[in-house]
Amino acid sequence: MRHESFANVHFREFSTRPLDLAVVVPTFNEAANVRPLLDKLAITLAGLHFEVIFVDDNSPDNTADLVRSIARSNPNVRIVHRIGRRGLSSAVIEGMLATAAPILAVMDGDLQHDETILPRLYHAVTSGNAEIAVGTRYTDGGGVGDWDKTRHRISRWATHLAQKVIGTPLSDPMSGFFIIRRETLMAAMPNISGVGFKILLDIVASLPKAPKIAEIPFQFRAREVGESKLGPLVAAEYLSLLAEKTIGKFIPIRFLKFLCVGSLGVLVHLSVLAVTLSLNISFFNAQTTAVAIAIAFNFFLNNIFTYSDRMLKGWALMRGLLSFYLIASIGAVANIGIGTWVNAQDGRWWLAGVTGVIVGAAWNFTASSFFTWRK
Ligand code: GDD
Ligand code: MN
Repeated sequence: MRHESFANVHFREFSTRPLDLAVVVPTFNEAANVRPLLDKLAITLAGLHFEVIFVDDNSPDNTADLVRSIARSNPNVRIVHRIGRRGLSSAVIEGMLATAAPILAVMDGDLQHDETILPRLYHAVTSGNAEIAVGTRYTDGGGVGDWDKTRHRISRWATHLAQKVIGTPLSDPMSGFFIIRRETLMAAMPNISGVGFKILLDIVASLPKAPKIAEIPFQFRAREVGESKLGPLVAAEYLSLLAEKTIGKFIPIRFLKFLCVGSLGVLVHLSVLAVTLSLNISFFNAQTTAVAIAIAFNFFLNNIFTYSDRMLKGWALMRGLLSFYLIASIGAVANIGIGTWVNAQDGRWWLAGVTGVIVGAAWNFTASSFFTWRK
């Protein structure tokens, strides 16, 4: 066959020892850390045939360009350059799917993960003892270095929450430092959520049966250059991940978020109404103002929370606001119309009210996810 001979003839010359391992490194503004990390990996992984895949979300400090320039003369270094996207977990997933290596390591690109434990993590999964080997900070010999009290407390609390809610066997489910076998990753892929920062927890909670896990302690180093991207949004995304892995099996989490925002919107509505009424404005005008403000509030909060992965900016934000006003007005008409109808049929005012609200919310959610936050 021509095709086969093409493959044999042309690729034989390139073939070296087969790839043992890929190290996937998500980066955002880590230019200063790239070379030191590669140097450290070359030393620790000396005996293995490995490649390093950086997945960069178009960092303003041009991390991707730097990696590309190194990769030009070093075939073991690769770059996945993503534009217009953000997210640590999704970056890691794309990196893992972009390599042919049978064993996959994931580590941060800021030198906080102690690369010298990589050989032990590697042996734990290749010896057959484990399917996933995790670098952990919360067993003997592990630690978090010079974290302040607050960060320490938040991390412990998030860990307990994961252990309670998901029942995960991991002592450090927040860890972003681990090695996994390709088959194990692929078994998790159909259920993976990919939101937020916690890729290890996502994988473990997405596996159809509990994996064999090995844990190896390490000391989380202090960051020397660059800064952490951990913030309130990361915390919100973490809670979404937990929700998705539990009640998400029954109701779409995006709809739940939309409802949460909507309930806050009701509070905003009532507060604005109270304030405007106290200014001696007619009820009609006060109510109109409250509605307009509450809709805008819902729009902006949904934009950064419910649809953080499709967040609108600039002109698209203005257009989105207009479309959301339009959709919400139709929703209000549907809400009132159906509520009035149910009330006439049934007579139970609260049932009529609730039915109207549900229909209105379902319409707003469906229509806005199609038009306002179109994929
Ligand atoms: N591609 C990409 N996209 N990379 C990102 C993004 C993103 O949106 N956000 C962060 N990164 C990269 C950073 O450049 C770094 O290499 C790594 O992901 C970790 O990000 P940091 O911002 O340094 O996180 P951290 O040190 O605060 O948190 C680490 O420790 C946590 C445990 O406390 C991470 O390992 C977390 O996963 C871990 O839970
Ligand atoms: Mn870090």
